Amino acid sequence: MTRDKYEKHLFPSLKEARRRMQKETKQIRYQLPDYLLGIGNNKKYHIKTYGCQGNLADSEKMAGLLEATGFRPTEFENEADIIILNTCAVRENAENRIFGELGRIKNLKKHNPDLLIALCGCMPQEESVVFKVMEKYPHVDIVFGTHNLHRLGEYIHDAYFSKEKVVRVYSKEGEIVEGVPMKRAFPQKAWVNIMYGCDEFCSYCIVPYTRGKERSRHYRDIIAEVEELAESGYKEVTLLGQNVNAYGKDFTDIRYTFADLLLDLNRIDIPRIRFVTAHPRDLDQRTIEVMALRGNIMPHIHLPVQSGSNKILKKMNRKYTREAYLELIDALREHIPDIAITTDIIVGFPGESDEDFAETLDMVKRAGFEGAFTFIYSPRSGTPASKYKDDLPADVKKQRLQELNKLVNEGYLNGNKRFEGKTVKVLVDGPSGKNANMLTGYSEHNKLVNFPGEKSLTGEIVDVKIEKAYTWHLRGIIE
Ligand code: SAH
Ligand code: SF4
Ligand code: F3S
Repeated sequence: MTRDKYEKHLFPSLKEARRRMQKETKQIRYQLPDYLLGIGNNKKYHIKTYGCQGNLADSEKMAGLLEATGFRPTEFENEADIIILNTCAVRENAENRIFGELGRIKNLKKHNPDLLIALCGCMPQEESVVFKVMEKYPHVDIVFGTHNLHRLGEYIHDAYFSKEKVVRVYSKEGEIVEGVPMKRAFPQKAWVNIMYGCDEFCSYCIVPYTRGKERSRHYRDIIAEVEELAESGYKEVTLLGQNVNAYGKDFTDIRYTFADLLLDLNRIDIPRIRFVTAHPRDLDQRTIEVMALRGNIMPHIHLPVQSGSNKILKKMNRKYTREAYLELIDALREHIPDIAITTDIIVGFPGESDEDFAETLDMVKRAGFEGAFTFIYSPRSGTPASKYKDDLPADVKKQRLQELNKLVNEGYLNGNKRFEGKTVKVLVDGPSGKNANMLTGYSEHNKLVNFPGEKSLTGEIVDVKIEKAYTWHLRGIIE
């Protein structure tokens, strides 16, 4: 298939996306073009978000942009004038689900021929996805990637007025765009991007290609955003980056690291600060020391280990050893004795032997993880690992995942059990989906807590005495 026949469109290239050109990134301020004002009047939007917190934050920006042009939200896709799928490319099954979804929503056009369907996020950054959409999903009207979501309004305008498919995917990142309006999903907790992109190039991972080069926001903008959130009553911010510990490494004129940022945010009067994702290679002693100050910095860290075997870690290009990882765990526990540590683990990476897998199980026990996201390795076209010989049968991979999950679940339960009989502070998310008389929220250690209470407590931090620990949650009563 050639791209020539689609010459009007802008297609991505994973090869281009791998290149890292400029050292420093310019910042620009977003301004809504006048001609977009009102294009969404009397119209409704519906956004479906897949993937990581980065995508959740991007969807809040798209919602903000849409509302600035007059669109209003709807929960119901059959009421929508535009449906946006904000996608994830990290594993093949995530992509298959989204293609299934695209097939399903095609029918909505029968009842509403004016419906616009847009595909954005990480999947369109892969050229193979865009070709597939062009060939097999002609009902998709707009395709754009992660580097230009602030131009959503223009693309909608073009789709309405030119009546043509609009495909605008850039291979490379552009400027950091400040001041994009946001419609935040929660009134009590907020995502705050501190950086974009990833330069780690773990050999299995598509993210450095779909999100581009590491670009840190200026700390003044981050601090101002957190101060504003605190003033408007937010109780929690989660700082976002694919590798938050690399924050500031791209600054050319100042020296300012993640530890500096955390320390500055520690002084702001907001009850809770969290961050994802930490990277074991770049997590430094100073960050651990700042975390130990506690105050508003929460005693939880998500520190993906991926494997317990040095051989596999090397093939994954993770740039640390199991010994170095365990030393970090020791340092974290020494400085923050009650810290909850969670992780990500991949099983069935090419060449993973029984011994390698046994080392991963051993790592889970030694590190005392209180939770883990576990995955079977999924080859991503364009990444180095997709070319590695992978001769492990699928059923062996599944069995390893099951065995790992059993151990991980014991960790969840042990991590929860340590709070039985104790009182914890819970930021209330609202009534539990299953039982309207129960409230649900997260403790400082990021444990899910359910307890009876009034809906009016939503958004408050309350003391809850824990009565019983289960694998996936704690149950308690308000003190
Ligand atoms: N930047 C974060 C996480 C990004 S993706 C970090 O480095 O921790 C979230 C998780 O998905 C990864 O930690 C990894 O465990 C998993 N993952 C990424 N690529 C994968 C692949 N090709 N197959 C299976 N799991 C993958
Ligand atoms: Fe992917 Fe590694 Fe970057 Fe995480 S740090 S996003 S796993 S390349
Ligand atoms: Fe998925 Fe993109 Fe996030 S690939 S995990 S949505 S950065």
